[in-house]
Amino acid sequence: MTLARTLLLRASESPALRRQIQDRRFARRAVKRFMPGEALEDALTAAAELQRAGLATTLTRLGENLRDGAAMEAVAGHYVEMVRSVAERGLDAEVSVKLTHLGLDDGTDEPRRRVGAIAEAAAAHGSRVWVDMEGSAYLERTLRVYRELLAAHRNVGLCLQAYLRRTPEDLEAMLALGAAVRLVKGAYQESAAIAFTRKRDVDDAYFRLATRLLRDTAGGGSRHVVATHDLRLVRLVRAAAGAIELPLGSVEFAMLYGIQSAAQRQLAAEGCRLRVLISYGDGWYPWFMRRLAERPANVLFVLRNLVG
Ligand code: FDA
Repeated sequence: MTLARTLLLRASESPALRRQIQDRRFARRAVKRFMPGEALEDALTAAAELQRAGLATTLTRLGENLRDGAAMEAVAGHYVEMVRSVAERGLDAEVSVKLTHLGLDDGTDEPRRRVGAIAEAAAAHGSRVWVDMEGSAYLERTLRVYRELLAAHRNVGLCLQAYLRRTPEDLEAMLALGAAVRLVKGAYQESAAIAFTRKRDVDDAYFRLATRLLRDTAGGGSRHVVATHDLRLVRLVRAAAGAIELPLGSVEFAMLYGIQSAAQRQLAAEGCRLRVLISYGDGWYPWFMRRLAERPANVLFVLRNLVG
């Protein structure tokens, strides 16, 4: 892990820095590169625009580690309303949620109930809900809540992180339950004891896990999601799908709004299923810092906004 990445990930967890940066105009300008705006309406407008270009979307309202029960209820209610707005506008837009935005820190059953309500609303419109994977301190709890959710709602999928050494076992356990999995490399600061830290090792692990997902789909399992901007891995996964004669439409690729936008459109034009994750909301600070950490060169872009 580079020093810049380590520092940026540490900064993502600092409430003091958050207070310093969040309201600065240069930061708000810079964050626009990765999100269409703070309001749901901004996200819906962006989703409609992407849909016209052949791209489906996933919507997520930014926020994590909420402690206030009323605020968490409001987040859950917001998502239920969002599912309705998406259906009214005829958008192919799924939902992705963070369990710590919905009460995971409290140790109660509430996150399961809240995501369950969102899943029910999504099921009524034939749509899916995704559970994000957060830092490893939340992994066991996330898996437990996810298992309970899946037992009651078949339209809930789970994100797994290729950088964690234990993910092959978690993946097998989830596939045995019939889960739909969104595979990512992983965005948090984790120790070498539990996570691969060299890019090459993460990439190799990612490819092995992605091919496992392809075999699961070929064997009648769910349609999984290969979420990466790494175009080399996208090429390898496409070739691996071809080698087992899995139709291109059986795999879904996913990228974040504002990253590799030209490649997103190109892949869709080539017949790939491509879903763009759009984040919105005012709780963007930790999420934005993780985007910078993924590509420390992005800091230059932020600095340009500071001077310009
Ligand atoms: P990698 O970091 O190797 O990047 C490959 C190339 O993509 C780079 O060389 C660069 O060109 C471009 N790129 C990548 N990130 C960029 C950035 N921020 N700015 C500009 N260019 C960039 N993580 C997690 O821990 N839990 C989760 O729930 C999710 N959910 C999720 C959903 C979706 C749809 C996506 C695409 C990603 C996530 N992630 C996530 C984030 C994920 O773990 C990972 O941090 C990022 O996707 C970056 O890794 P890549 O696979 O893109 O490869």
